[in-house]
Amino acid sequence: MVKINAQSQVYIILGNPIAHSLSPAMYNAAFNSLKLNCLYMASQVEEGQLQAAIQGIKALGIRGGNVTVPFKEKVIPYLDGITEEARHIGAVNTLYWERGKLWGTNTDGPGFLCALEKEEPNYRDYNHALILGAGGAARAIVVSLALAGIKNITIINRKREKALELAAKAHTLGCMASALDWNEGGLEEVFRGRGLIINTTSLGMNPQEDKMPPLNPLWLGPQHLVVDIIYKPSMTLLLSSASKRGCRTMNGIGMLLEQGILAFEKWSGYKAPVEVMKRELERWLE
Ligand code: ATR
Repeated sequence: MVKINAQSQVYIILGNPIAHSLSPAMYNAAFNSLKLNCLYMASQVEEGQLQAAIQGIKALGIRGGNVTVPFKEKVIPYLDGITEEARHIGAVNTLYWERGKLWGTNTDGPGFLCALEKEEPNYRDYNHALILGAGGAARAIVVSLALAGIKNITIINRKREKALELAAKAHTLGCMASALDWNEGGLEEVFRGRGLIINTTSLGMNPQEDKMPPLNPLWLGPQHLVVDIIYKPSMTLLLSSASKRGCRTMNGIGMLLEQGILAFEKWSGYKAPVEVMKRELERWLE
């Protein structure tokens, strides 16, 4: 265990609530395994205090870290710059210093792509992706899929306006994108025609494990790769239903890990100890 002393470098995650964040455990395990004199802390920031918190990061010489709900969008005006990916996604989850300036980037979408690529190296061959949900996570994933060259994206959301807005964003990145809601006719055909299905809604997340997006499992078959970005539980009702229909499935643990690896490498400059971080996450998710 590295001793904390006057030379320790401090990293931080800002959010509200933050007490259940897995990040401190994952990153402190990484620091320890690399024998770095670093410390990663969580800070619950009140709504009106975000600008002050960012000024605090600068004033106190905090070395970087992360931002989570509900500040991923709101933090942008207080940063010195953001990356192109973060600009397209419209949200930041990672803070790092570059030439004396505090920058923000987004590793959620790229982390998703890394996890997907490990599961399916040829994921670009799925030239049509179907996204369930149109919230913050969907936005990160749609932007990253579009930037990776996926040409067709269909988005289904309860509130159709949000799906339309996200489809418009995908359009600006060169994608053919369409927006539907769950009451639309012909959803069966839509599902049958898309190989890659990604659930970004919270339906099925602990503690509501008996829920899933309102699709008929009979629409699924062996041609589908069904991804659920939920990591707790690791096997959601959607994934178990898909698996029974012969689909390949992937849960959200890979995305959680990969976004963490990318963030760690960005703000620390060190190569992430992947196995250590993975073990720590799995221990917390047990
Ligand atoms: P995140 O940042 O995790 O994406 P979010 O931005 O709150 O969270 O998005 C949650 C997503 O789950 C949205 O797409 C939401 O649909 P609406 O935009 O129509 O609200 C979807 N969602 C949550 N509960 C739902 C439910 N009971 N039925 C259908 N969709 C639901």
